[in-house]
Amino acid sequence: MATAPANNAHGAETRRDFIFIASGAAAAVGTAATIWPFIDQMNPAADTLAMSTTEVDLSAIELGQQIKVMWQGKPVFVRHRTPSEVDAARRDDYANLKDPQHDADRLLQEDGQPGRAEWLILEASCTHLGCVPTFVTGSSFGGWFCPCHGSDYDTSGRIRRGPAPKNLVPAPYVFTGDTSIRIG
Ligand code: FES
Repeated sequence: MATAPANNAHGAETRRDFIFIASGAAAAVGTAATIWPFIDQMNPAADTLAMSTTEVDLSAIELGQQIKVMWQGKPVFVRHRTPSEVDAARRDDYANLKDPQHDADRLLQEDGQPGRAEWLILEASCTHLGCVPTFVTGSSFGGWFCPCHGSDYDTSGRIRRGPAPKNLVPAPYVFTGDTSIRIG
């Protein structure tokens, strides 16, 4: 019969296809089983999650002082602003700002409520190339100065002069008591 070999050939082809697909599926399962432990290792551990927030006791920070704390490996300024620093920040809400933003909008907490104006929580990283600026009382705009390339920030941490393109970035926080906040 002339057609039998063709049928046999077709049958052989089908079996080969099945063997190929089955071995491919087995390989995929094997790969997934091998990858899973690596993916699982990438999930944050409980201690890492705990470090994603930073608790800060505000009671020891005098008016006109600031401290620097670490949050998620980054330095953050916690500044206790004087009334004159707050007034200066509000007065300049409509100044010619490179990165326009009202002072009140830089105090927003995670829940969308305005924070207390005397507390300003900012990432301590110059938006030019990431140096840590210094608060310089009596500086041109009364706030932080970055000596690396001469960027001047005001008492709200807004960029006012120099190569930095953006304001210092407010860190997210909530009040956890009258004299304590949680960053993150
Ligand atoms: S890093 Fe601050 S001015 Fe360049």
